[in-house]
Amino acid sequence: MELKDAITGRRSIRKFKPDAIEKKVLTEILEDCRWTPSWGNTQPWELFVLTGPALESYRKASKEKMESGEIFSPEVPMPEEWPEHMKKRYAGLGRVVLTAQGIAREDKAARVQFYKEMHAFFGAPCLVIAAVPKDTRLEYAMLDIGLILQTLCLAAYDRGIGSCIMAVSVGYPDLLRKVLPVPADRRIIMGVALGYPDTDFPLNRFPRERAKLEDFVTWVS
Ligand SMILES: Cc1cc2nc3c(=O)[nH]c(=O)nc-3n(C[C@H](O)[C@H](O)[C@H](O)COP(=O)(O)O)c2cc1C
Repeated sequence: MELKDAITGRRSIRKFKPDAIEKKVLTEILEDCRWTPSWGNTQPWELFVLTGPALESYRKASKEKMESGEIFSPEVPMPEEWPEHMKKRYAGLGRVVLTAQGIAREDKAARVQFYKEMHAFFGAPCLVIAAVPKDTRLEYAMLDIGLILQTLCLAAYDRGIGSCIMAVSVGYPDLLRKVLPVPADRRIIMGVALGYPDTDFPLNRFPRERAKLEDFVTWVS
């Protein structure tokens, strides 16, 4: 696949087929991830690949926690405030995600159902969780984690595998720590759902929006 096609064709997948990804294919994807750049080649990331019964038990527990109304408490706190122009984009995504599924704003039951599916990682047969040692400077480690997750998503896409980086998948770290051997001195940063995309599902097909170059690039010469 051409690199440009991978960069522009990858999109967040929000419904996966249940088919497992072969371990050989996952291993190839992770081998590609080894070549991700990092500050000073520190390679601060540690990845946990969750599949099979362990993932199913976490999926069930995550959904139940969401249903019980338990507050999200990721190990990297989610920002509560955003600048106005970013808030607008976030709200725009929320609108598109609901309308693509034909969910009206006032249809609370359908919205809750969608959030339940999100907390079940959209049915993905694999969840990759990224962690870093707690004594790593978080700002820098976050850059490196961002890079390796993009490599992961592109390497997966190159093999016909869809992905969704998911803050929701690390919102209840106490549950995650019950199924994953994440040492206490590691901070869980982010998760990525992986699986074969259900290409007919409207949420996997809606047109995505991006800012124009003039909105974020300044040329200086
Ligand atoms: C750090 C991070 C966390 C995210 N968490 C979620 C999530 O919990 N649920 C979800 O549906 N999408 C999540 N996404 C996906 C974004 O909504 C998506 O990347 C963005 O809307 C751009 O769309 P695209 O990935 O389809 O190009 C997350 C993305 C990132 C980078």
